[in-house]
Amino acid sequence: MTPVDRLHVAIIMDGNGRWALGRGLPRVAGHRAGAAAVRRVVEAAPDLGIHTLTLYAFSEDNWSRPPREVTALMKLLGRYLMEETERCVKNGVRLEAIGRRDRLPAPLVALLEQSERKTARCRRLHLRLALDYSSRRKILEAALRMGSTATEETFSEALGPDVDLLIRTSGEQRLSDFLLWECAYAEMVFTPRMWPTFTGEDLAQALDEFRHRDRRFGRVASEDSTARRTA
Ligand code: IPE
Ligand code: IPE
Ligand code: MG
Repeated sequence: MTPVDRLHVAIIMDGNGRWALGRGLPRVAGHRAGAAAVRRVVEAAPDLGIHTLTLYAFSEDNWSRPPREVTALMKLLGRYLMEETERCVKNGVRLEAIGRRDRLPAPLVALLEQSERKTARCRRLHLRLALDYSSRRKILEAALRMGSTATEETFSEALGPDVDLLIRTSGEQRLSDFLLWECAYAEMVFTPRMWPTFTGEDLAQALDEFRHRDRRFGRVASEDSTARRTA
């Protein structure tokens, strides 16, 4: 079981477009406001016992959005890296991109690699940005690489740590090709909040809910929780 201060939290940051359109703004304004929410959450995470934070920033399927929106998203990601890398170093945040790199704009890849290099020794929080990411692809690639030598352990090692808590904003309740293997026993919290309005306090609340769940991993309920429920 994960120690309470080594949690892996994953977030599907959804609802930027709807948040913006609801205010009569273009969808891109929602993505801009979404970047500020990322800052808030990264800042709040370490003190909440989160050791690994995986954020879904751009899925493989997001390439099928209008080119203008895709371009704006890539620019915003670049800007985030330019503005945040020094702060990451200062706050002990190790940044890593997971996902494909060969289709990202070259300047963005250069920025990513620079951020990864600069933050490589940071240990307070491991921030993983899922960019041009598809969980199915990751699983398929690992399977092809390992072939018949694969075991559950080596496979898990190749993909990354199991998720303890998965949060999705905007009221949608689906995984959208995110961390499918790693979420095998993840607790899930779905909130109607749109991502641009998500705060450190919302993250704390989700963790509070998580800490009240009884994680059974296939076993029978612990006596404590059974007593609590039948009381
Ligand atoms: C999430 O917000 C950000 C990305 C997928 C990049 P959306 O852009 O999906 O916002 P909605 O779901 O259309 O409101
Ligand atoms: C998932 O959100 C991807 C990210 C948050 C980056 P989408 O908005 O793309 O997912 P669907 O289309 O609603 O499933
Ligand atoms: Mg969406």
